[in-house]
Amino acid sequence: MAKIKLGVFGLWRGGSFLDIINAQDDAEVYAICDKDEDKLNAAAARLPEHVLKFTNFDEFIECGMDGVLLCNYFHQHAEFAIRAMERGIHVFSECTSGATLRDCVLLCEAVERTGCKYMIAENYPFSPALLEMERLNREGTLGRILYAEGEYNHTATKEDLRGLTPGEYHWRGWMPRTYYVTHALGPLMHITKQMPVKVNAFAVHSDVLEEYDDFRHNYDALAMMNCITDDGALFRFTGCTAMCSPSGYRICGEFGGAETGRTLGSKVNVTYHSWTTPEGKPQSETYAPESHAEAAKTGHGGGDYWMVRNFVDYIVNDVEPFFNVYRGCAMSAVGILAWRSCMEDGKTYYIPDFTNPEERNKVRDDVLTPFPNENGNVTLPCAIGKKMNPRK
Ligand SMILES: NC(=O)c1ccc[n+]([C@@H]2O[C@H](COP(=O)([O-])OP(=O)(O)OC[C@H]3O[C@@H](n4cnc5c(N)ncnc54)[C@H](O)[C@@H]3O)[C@@H](O)[C@H]2O)c1
Repeated sequence: MAKIKLGVFGLWRGGSFLDIINAQDDAEVYAICDKDEDKLNAAAARLPEHVLKFTNFDEFIECGMDGVLLCNYFHQHAEFAIRAMERGIHVFSECTSGATLRDCVLLCEAVERTGCKYMIAENYPFSPALLEMERLNREGTLGRILYAEGEYNHTATKEDLRGLTPGEYHWRGWMPRTYYVTHALGPLMHITKQMPVKVNAFAVHSDVLEEYDDFRHNYDALAMMNCITDDGALFRFTGCTAMCSPSGYRICGEFGGAETGRTLGSKVNVTYHSWTTPEGKPQSETYAPESHAEAAKTGHGGGDYWMVRNFVDYIVNDVEPFFNVYRGCAMSAVGILAWRSCMEDGKTYYIPDFTNPEERNKVRDDVLTPFPNENGNVTLPCAIGKKMNPRK
C-alpha cells in the first residue's frame, strides 16, 4: 500500500507524533520543520535518513507532502494552516483553530475555498474513560444531557513553567485562562454532540502566580466558563487552570449521569436514579473501561494515537473527524469571547455559527488579541489581575 506523506511542523509537541505516524501501515513521516535546530536535529535522529529537514516553513510546504501536522505556536495555527491549504496540503492543527475571531473566519473560508481536509487535533476526548462516556450517552440510558462539567488542570513548578515559556513574547506567558479551552470543552462536545451557543465567565487572580511576573504575565489561576448549548444544556468548564487536583469530567442526564477523573482517576462512575436504573444494571457502578491496544502505548491516554489515525483516515478513507473546522472555530471563539466576558463582569456573548457567512461577516474584522506581536504589542490584557479582584 502506498503511504501518505506527512510533514510535522514544530518539533516540541510535534515530536510525540513521529513514532505514531511511522507505526501506521498507510502513512509515514516525510518531512519535518523547526526553526530551532536543536529540536530539528533531535527529531531527525529518531527518524530514517531519507526524511527531509527544514528550518523554513515556506520551503517545507513545497516538498511534496500530502498533509501537515501543525504543532507550532498556539496563537499562530490559523495563518500556517491557510498557507498550507493554499498549496493543497491537508491540515491537522494543534489545539486551537484561531487566536482571533478573524482567524476563525479566514480559516473556515480557506477550508471551503481549497477543499482541503482540516481537523483540530483535540486529543482529550479520546481517552478510554471519555470514549466510554461518549458510548454511554449514545446508548441513551442517561436520557437527554442537561448539564456537563469539564475541568482541565495543569500545574507545574516555577522552573518547569520557565522552561515551557522560552522568550519574552512566548504565548504561554501571555495566555488568558479561558483560551486553552479545548481540553475541557472538547470532551463535553464530543460526548454530547452539543454545540455552545452563548458563554459567560469569571477569572480569579492569584498572588502566587503574580510572583512569576518576570516571565509570565497571566497571573490569574483559573477562569470558569458557562455555556448554554444548542440542546438547551448548561456546560460549566475551565480553560487551563492552576488548581490543585487532577482534571475531571461529568455529564448529567435526565435519567442518569457519568463522571471520570478527579478522585476516580481513569475509572468511570455511572449512577442512575433508583427509578430510572435500566433493568439488569446496578444503580451505581465504577469501572475501568478497556483500552485500545495500540492507543494505550501512546500519550494522553491514547488520545495522540487517535489524532493521527483520524487524520490519516480522513485523507485516505474520507472519514471526517468530529473536530472539523467549524467545531474547532466554535471552541476557539468560546475561549476568546469568554475572556471578554471576564473583563466585563460576566457579560454574556453569543458564539458565531461559523457555517453561516452572515455570522462570519459580523466578526470578520475582530482582531483583538492578548498575544504580543514581535514588538511586544497586544490589544487585550491577559489577566484580570488586581483590576477586577474584589480582594483588596
Ligand atoms: N494536545 C496536547 O495534548 C498538547 C500538548 C502540548 C502542546 N500542545 C500544543 O502544541 C502546540 C505547540 O506547543 P509546544 O508545547 O510544542 O510549545 P511551543 O509552542 O513553544 O513549540 C513550538 C515549536 O514550533 C517551532 N516553531 C514555531 N514557529 C515556527 C516557525 N515559524 N518556523 C519554524 N519553527 C517554528 C518552535 O521553534 C518550537 O519548537 C501548541 O498549540 C500547544 O497548545 C498540545
